[in-house]
Amino acid sequence: MAKATSVFACQECGATHSKWSGRCDACGAWNTIIEESGNAEAARPGGLGKGRGKKIEFVGLATPADHQKPPRLPTGLAEFDRVAGGGLVPGSAILVGGDPGIGKSTLLLQVTAALAGSYRCVYISGEEAVDQVRLRAERLGLADAPVELASATNVRDIVASLDDAHAPQVVVADSIQTLFMDTLDSAPGTVAQVRASAQELIRLCKRRGIVLFLVGHVTKEGTIAGPKVLEHMVDTVLYFEGERGHQFRILRAVKNRFGPADEIGVFEMQDSGLSQVANPSALFLADRDRAASGTSVFAGMEGTRPMLVEIQALTAPTSFGTPRRAVVGWDSGRLNMVLAVLEARCGLGMGQNDVYLNVAGGLRISEPAADLAVAAALVSSLNGSVVPADTVVFGEIGLSGEVRPVSREDVRLKEAGKLGFKRAIVPETRGTKKERASKPAESANPREAAAQTVRIRHLNELLDLLAPRRASESASPTGLRPAARAES
Ligand code: TYD
Ligand code: MG
Repeated sequence: MAKATSVFACQECGATHSKWSGRCDACGAWNTIIEESGNAEAARPGGLGKGRGKKIEFVGLATPADHQKPPRLPTGLAEFDRVAGGGLVPGSAILVGGDPGIGKSTLLLQVTAALAGSYRCVYISGEEAVDQVRLRAERLGLADAPVELASATNVRDIVASLDDAHAPQVVVADSIQTLFMDTLDSAPGTVAQVRASAQELIRLCKRRGIVLFLVGHVTKEGTIAGPKVLEHMVDTVLYFEGERGHQFRILRAVKNRFGPADEIGVFEMQDSGLSQVANPSALFLADRDRAASGTSVFAGMEGTRPMLVEIQALTAPTSFGTPRRAVVGWDSGRLNMVLAVLEARCGLGMGQNDVYLNVAGGLRISEPAADLAVAAALVSSLNGSVVPADTVVFGEIGLSGEVRPVSREDVRLKEAGKLGFKRAIVPETRGTKKERASKPAESANPREAAAQTVRIRHLNELLDLLAPRRASESASPTGLRPAARAES
C-alpha cells in the first residue's frame, strides 16, 4: 500500500512543491499554494508497483471499409456550428470558458434546447437550482424544450446517473469549478478538484460517445483554478468573450481537434437571450461617426470570415510625466511598437501625448494586419485629418516602417466592397505591378466589386496620404492626397 502524502500545488500554474511557501517558485504568484493529498509512490518514475498491465490492442490508421463515420450533431445555430467546426462530434469534450456573467449558461441552455428535439440532452447545473434554470429557460422562450435538468455537484453521482446504455447524447456540466470528487480532500474549484472532476467526466463521455460541455469561469485571481488547466485535456476550447457594457458576445475557438481554430461566432445579448449576428461588420460599423478624426476602418479576418471594425484613437497632451497608453481590444505591446515606428521612422513623436486606442463594438483583434489601420487612426487623431469614411485600411508594419502584405487580401477587399467601401489603403505586394497590367476590371457586379486599392510600401506614404490638407489645395478625387499610386 502506497503511503499517502501531501503535495503543495500552485493554483495558478499547477506546479507542485514539497512544502508550503507564500510564493510559487515556478510562476512567481503569491498565496496560490494549497495543500492537496497526493500519492508520492505513484508519482515516482517506475512507481507502478506490482501487477502487470493489460495488453493494448493496436489497429491500423486506415479506416476500415465497413466503418461508419459518426455523424456530427448540428445545432442549427449557424454561428455556433461554424465555431464548433460544423456540428458537435460525439464523444468529444468541449470547454466553454469566459468571465462570470458573460452568458455561458445562457448560450449552453440555448444550444441544448436547439439539440433537444433530436437528441437526449442533459443540463447539470452546480451553480443554480433547477427552478432558476427553468426561470431562465422561460425568459428565453425555451420552456417547452425537452432538456433534462439536474442540480448536482458530486461527480460520483453524476457519473453513476449517466453511465448506462441509455446515456444522453449531450451533457452540460455548469460549471466545472462547482463539481467535486469525494475521493479528494481539497475544496471544489482547486486545481486538483477541477482536473480530477474533468478527467472523470471526459472518461465517461469518451466511453459512451457523449458530447460533453464543461463550463469554466476565467478568474483573474489565482485562488480558483481557471479553465487554463483543462485546455490540454479537452478536444475543443471555446472562449465566450465581450465587453460587459456592450451587447456583443463573441464565441472564439482557440483549440479544436475537429475543426478550424480561430473561427468566431458573433452573438448579441438581448432581453430574450442571445441572438445570432449574421453580418457582424455591418453591426460593428453601424454607429460610426463618419466625419470624425482619429478613426479608421480595419478590414480584418476572423478565422475564415472577413470582418470590418472601426479603430478609434485619441491622442491628447499629457498632464503627467509619463504619458498614458490605454488599449481596449488590441495588444498594448503592439500599440507601443506602432508608436515607436511612427516616431523613429516617420518623425511623428507622441512622447508628450496620452494615447487611447479602442476597437469599437467590443471585438478583440489579434491580427498584426491591424497595424496600418491603428497607425492611420493615430496619425489622423494627432494631426486632425480624417481618413475618408469610404476607405478601409489593412497591412502589417515592420520595425523599419515598411508596410508588409497580409493574407487573404482578396477576401478583405471583397467584404469592403460589399459594405459600400470604395477605397482601400493596402500594402504593395510582390505581384501587384504585374497584376495591375493584366487585370483591368475586378467584377461585373458592382455590389460584388472589391474596393479600389491605394498601395503603399512605407509608413511615410500613409502620412503623406493623411497629411492635413491646406485650404488652397483642391481635393483629389480619392479624397486622399495624391502622393501614393492609386489603382483601379
Ligand atoms: P449567464 O449566462 O448567467 O452568464 P454566465 O453563465 O457566463 O455566468 O448570463 C448572465 C448575464 O446575461 C446577466 O448579467 C444577464 C444577462 N442576460 C440577458 O441580458 N438576457 C437574457 O435573456 C439572459 C438569460 C441573461
Ligand atoms: Mg452560469
